[in-house]
Amino acid sequence: GPEVAALVASRIVDVPDFPQPGIVFKDLTPLFADGDAFREIIDATVAHYGAGSFDVVAGIEARGFVMAAALAYAAGVGVVPVRKAGKLPRATHTAQYALEYGSAALQVHTDAFVPGQRVLVVDDVLATGGTAEATLGLVERAGGVVAGLTVLLELEFLGGRARLAAHEPHALLRV
Ligand code: PRP
Ligand code: MG
Repeated sequence: GPEVAALVASRIVDVPDFPQPGIVFKDLTPLFADGDAFREIIDATVAHYGAGSFDVVAGIEARGFVMAAALAYAAGVGVVPVRKAGKLPRATHTAQYALEYGSAALQVHTDAFVPGQRVLVVDDVLATGGTAEATLGLVERAGGVVAGLTVLLELEFLGGRARLAAHEPHALLRV
């Protein structure tokens, strides 16, 4: 609700011209470093979906990992890593996604999910939506059913939500 949104807003630090001129980087590290705030954001996210509404959490490397393990622990489920290409040791599915300059790829193990398992996907920020779109596709290719996509912060002006089709993302703060 509005209280959690205000808490997130109060712990974000805007960093002008990072990583390059003209970009205002949203630094969430102060939010993660505040124990009370961190517990609030995890508990609010679990409460939004309801414990029992997902079977496993998928976290997106790297900043999504911070949320993913805590969410999984709080909900009493396991956690699956969606990793940058070349990091997972066994058979993987791969999804390319566009970056501002060039492209990158994410991977998940082909056997990461029990078929039909309900998967809550988590990341820190929804910006252009490329990362999230790639990950939702990977979850489905690996046999999971997307139960939700949750982020701390949605940058609405970048329009990422429109790329996620039927998957309504949940954001604790939208700016
Ligand atoms: C950042 C952020 C999201 C993604 C959002 O990750 O953590 O994962 O960008 O952008 P998008 O919606 O435009 O795809 P980044 O790729 O910088 O990597 P990191 O998490 O490893 O720092
Ligand atoms: Mg990321």
